Amino acid sequence: MRRHAGGATILCIRLFVLTVVLAAIGASILPADAAAHAVLIDSSPAAEARLPESPASVRLRFNEPIQLVQAADLDVVDGDGTPASIGVGAVPPDDATALAIALRPGLPPGTYTARFRVLGADSHVITGVMRFGIGPGALSEPVLAGTSAGSGPGATGFFAVSARFAELVMLGGLVGLLAFRWLVWRPALLDVASESHADHVHALAWGRDVFWVGFGVLALGAMLAEGYLLVVQSASVLGTSVMSAVGDIDGIGEVLADTRFGTLIQTRAILLFLLFAVGSWQFLAEYGGRNGGSREPTAAGKPLPALLMAALLGTILWQVSAQGHASQAPLPLLQTGLHFAHMVAVAVWIGGLALVGLTLWQLPRAVPNGGRELGTAVLAHLSRVALLAVGVAVATGIARASGQLSDPADLWETAYGRSIVIKIALLSPIAFLALRNRRLVTSLRVLGRPNAAALVMVRRGAGAELAISLAIVVVASLLTAQVPGRL
Ligand code: HEM
Repeated sequence: MRRHAGGATILCIRLFVLTVVLAAIGASILPADAAAHAVLIDSSPAAEARLPESPASVRLRFNEPIQLVQAADLDVVDGDGTPASIGVGAVPPDDATALAIALRPGLPPGTYTARFRVLGADSHVITGVMRFGIGPGALSEPVLAGTSAGSGPGATGFFAVSARFAELVMLGGLVGLLAFRWLVWRPALLDVASESHADHVHALAWGRDVFWVGFGVLALGAMLAEGYLLVVQSASVLGTSVMSAVGDIDGIGEVLADTRFGTLIQTRAILLFLLFAVGSWQFLAEYGGRNGGSREPTAAGKPLPALLMAALLGTILWQVSAQGHASQAPLPLLQTGLHFAHMVAVAVWIGGLALVGLTLWQLPRAVPNGGRELGTAVLAHLSRVALLAVGVAVATGIARASGQLSDPADLWETAYGRSIVIKIALLSPIAFLALRNRRLVTSLRVLGRPNAAALVMVRRGAGAELAISLAIVVVASLLTAQVPGRL
């Protein structure tokens, strides 16, 4: 036991050194200025300017490509709120980062407010105002009344964060389920194939049922989560409440058809549908026997459909990674790749925790002799897979963080940085629980005869790890909506 514990600690240290080296390389090759949330960077006339005479138009420029979804989302008004702009605003064909609108000729002296609501390339809705004056005299307060500024669910509000969390849990759960079946459950069954045959046959059937029930629930859940995300995003883009967005089919249609976010959601829906189709085909292949009988269960079904499902899920997660901050950061392909690897590693780890808990809880009831050997073999395989997954998650997380922060001080001076600190802080109790579990698993294998009490302790430990890691995913769902420290 002592020898095993020493090995694990050295492995963790090596992994940590690797993470720091990766982070250092990442930080050194990434240029200083990054964009990862649409921000107004300049305008003509300039903000707070006092002009001798009325300009022909107002032009706003942002740090990344933006979209104007509704005509009313850009206007200019005078100090009483009377429209000073004519026609509708638009993104000029020569500059996807700009927005322009014409003004009525010969505007009288006074304070004017340009009010905007735009959709950034990272799918976040940004609202704001820009004030300027014509003629001498102090500028009066900007006119916000009548704008859609501030209406609609905020990007860091309950609806947006819960929609993102639901999407991450359902998609991550599907990746975790598939990975557990092939990287943990199948090898564990092969390990104990020589043990009690009765247990083996029951375990095969139990494993197959758990996989397909899980797949069905998560695939359906993922589609619902995408629908929820679409409704919340539509409410945010249209500047309405979530409840009224639910009934606004035209508005949702507009967001689906006219925005980058809408295109990504449509592609995800098609990929999820394909995943469901491949899953249904494999489900029938695994259960459908001759003359209505059920086919003999196998450890994990056929590799080809599993590879297809993994490829479809990988494409969906890549898309989710390419939709957010990573796509607008410097070296977007590298950042998107890191984000993708981060999410896959987290999904494999958290999915494994949930399924090992379920296995240790339900397997003893499903097989005649309690399946302790199989339970221990599952633990041993998961322990190896989880260590690697956590290592990759931490390494890619640090590399992603270095891509979004411009100064260590961002970690405590920005909300984004503080969310990262909370994530890292929540990792420490997990590390303690994981090491304790790892020692228990090693002792179970060395003793050779796994006892029920030890398996219950490991199950409880895995349950605690799962709860804390889901809390980290809640923080991550908030993090992706916050303004990265680099801005
Ligand atoms: C050293 C530890 C970690 C660091 C520094 C870190 C940092 C980050 C960063 C910078 C992002 C990108 C956010 C963005 O797009 O702006 C991210 C995403 C994410 N992190 Fe971590 N992370 C760490 C560990 C973890 C762990 C342990 C989990 C899960 C238990 C986790 C779950 C996630 C998830 C789910 C996302 C994707 C969010 C999304 O795209 O919606 N992270 N992380």
